[in-house]
Amino acid sequence: MKNIVVLISGNGSNLQAIIDACEQKKINGTLRAVFSNKADAFGLERARDAAIAAHALEASQFASREAFDRQLMQEIDAYAPDVVVLAGYMRILSPAFVAHYSGRLLNIHPSLLPKYPGLHTHRQALENGDQEHGTSVHFVTDELDGGPVILQARVPVFAGDTEQDIIERVQSQEHAIYPLVINWFVNGRLKMVDNHAWLDGVCLPAQGYAADE
Ligand code: GRF
Repeated sequence: MKNIVVLISGNGSNLQAIIDACEQKKINGTLRAVFSNKADAFGLERARDAAIAAHALEASQFASREAFDRQLMQEIDAYAPDVVVLAGYMRILSPAFVAHYSGRLLNIHPSLLPKYPGLHTHRQALENGDQEHGTSVHFVTDELDGGPVILQARVPVFAGDTEQDIIERVQSQEHAIYPLVINWFVNGRLKMVDNHAWLDGVCLPAQGYAADE
């Protein structure tokens, strides 16, 4: 069984989807541990409820981002992860961290990348009058929200939608696609080669597996 470690900062609804998928054997791996940079993250409770090791590291206890990430890497590596999954982890990673887990570090970002990297993506979609929004699972590289896309899910934006409506619509898709991609990875079907995502030996297009073109 492949070892999975998840990093969170908050609610952990994606973490919950991953916990559930592991329990239902939809992910062929073992969730070994959850780490948060916030001690009060609700996701840590979700992990404890599922009898998964839950750890918090507070940035204020460390002299620098590099020192924080060094400690985090050391603690993560005690679980011998085959894949490290960022699920709402709201802290910028040091280059050393990204390099250490290169090719086995996944993130989910709530936009149809390369559109809207960074924060407040749903609000931007709403303010720009976009008719669709979505979410992207991608490999993490040094470029913020810029690594190769593996899979995207699109959702419509309806007239009268609030930001919260869009967040919820996007998140329900996230809970479906993130476990799927993690399962591809732990089954050895998914790789990052030369800054491209490959699935079953095929180089994926820029929008990932479910591209329109
Ligand atoms: C998700 O929408 C994800 O795309 C973004 O942060 C959010 C985390 O939500 N990176 P949750 O903590 O999984 O509920």
